[in-house]
Amino acid sequence: MSESSAPRASNDVRKALRRARIAGLLRNRPETGPQTVHFDIANGCNTRCTTCWHHSPHLRSDVVPTTEWKRRQMPFASFRELLDDLLALGGLEQIILSGMGEPFLNGEIYRMVEAAHRAGIGVTIITNLLLADVPRLLASDGELELLTSICGVSAEVWQAFHAHPRPRGFETLLEQLGRLREAGFRPKHVQVINGQNVEELVQMVEFGAAFHAKRINFKLASLSRGTEAVGLSAAQRRRLRDDDLPRAMARAAELGVETDLAAFARQIGDDPARTAPIEEVGCFMGFLYCRVTVDLELLYCCNTQVQVGTITPAKSLRDWWLDPRYQALRDSVRGGRYFPGCQQCGKFKQNLKWSNRLRQTLPDEAFAALLGRAKVGEVEQRR
Ligand SMILES: C[S@@+](CC[C@H](N)C(=O)[O-])C[C@H]1O[C@@H](n2cnc3c(N)ncnc32)[C@H](O)[C@@H]1O
Ligand code: SF4
Ligand code: SF4
Repeated sequence: MSESSAPRASNDVRKALRRARIAGLLRNRPETGPQTVHFDIANGCNTRCTTCWHHSPHLRSDVVPTTEWKRRQMPFASFRELLDDLLALGGLEQIILSGMGEPFLNGEIYRMVEAAHRAGIGVTIITNLLLADVPRLLASDGELELLTSICGVSAEVWQAFHAHPRPRGFETLLEQLGRLREAGFRPKHVQVINGQNVEELVQMVEFGAAFHAKRINFKLASLSRGTEAVGLSAAQRRRLRDDDLPRAMARAAELGVETDLAAFARQIGDDPARTAPIEEVGCFMGFLYCRVTVDLELLYCCNTQVQVGTITPAKSLRDWWLDPRYQALRDSVRGGRYFPGCQQCGKFKQNLKWSNRLRQTLPDEAFAALLGRAKVGEVEQRR
């Protein structure tokens, strides 16, 4: 067991933080640090999902990462400094350990989890689960979520999706999920949907029930730079909308499995390049979230095209959070001026959750202003 953790923030503290975040959104100046920070701790991967932005065998040759890039990992010392800086800034509730590759390739992950837990910070790990030492991970004393990428629930479909280089990949996944179930731990399942696995939608719900998934998150694969090759055909898209999706929703209700299929349905329009109707929903991530790569590049969100700057000894994450350059990015989004890649926003569902929350609590014109739709001066005049 790790040494005992700091207590988690009480509900009152969380509510006060939420109020401060909303106040910051309305003023268009953050009043706390980010709620969630995503750390990329490894670039390399042990598998080769066909949809993957960095490891797919379908990537165009000019965008395939180099071996040197794939070897890079975030050292524990860098992680520790970033965590301390964030704790000093205030407002941090949760970290995400993930990667442009597989976070469990970084052997320091267990120490990172323990360090966050000792500071009373919750941890979410996004992983394909194959390499995790499950008992060691579960020994850390604090809030833990596992977002386990599954993406296929039969051996054939899993293998096709993962283009896995070794035998027994799917069996290993089943063993790992079995270990979690035996330990009474309920992971969230992530099912990235593409043309190879879309026919398994209903079975994915049943698989989630069998392995006691806490929830199943469905994501329509956002595809580019060669990976469009594994996208849904027009016929698959129609069938998904009209047949697979309603059946999967009915099956989830029958089995009592929590899913985000209702939000997933909003991703399935006719245009494959547009998986997120972000202008209707708004983007609030500039006040809630940021991402740090293994090279200490600070990103505005999950979109690797929206870079804020490099974290250095002279300019910490805390400095950047309050920097005019960061603010200019917030201003752009608030003005309804989105960035390349926002039409496939990877934070669409988190944005949708905040959008629904804000829409319910704010006057119409204040909400419209957050989406860059209010007439200039309208909000100020009505206050
Ligand atoms: C790039 S992976 C990195 C972490 C880890 N290797 C994993 O797969 O969970 C981060 C997340 O992106 C998902 N993902 C992969 N390809 C995707 C795509 N084209 N569109 C949306 N999500 C995708 C993965 O399933 C995973 O949940
Ligand atoms: S496991 Fe994650 S990082 Fe690895 S290939 Fe799949 S999506 Fe990419
Ligand atoms: S991709 Fe665009 S819309 Fe999505 S979180 Fe990032 S900035 Fe916001």
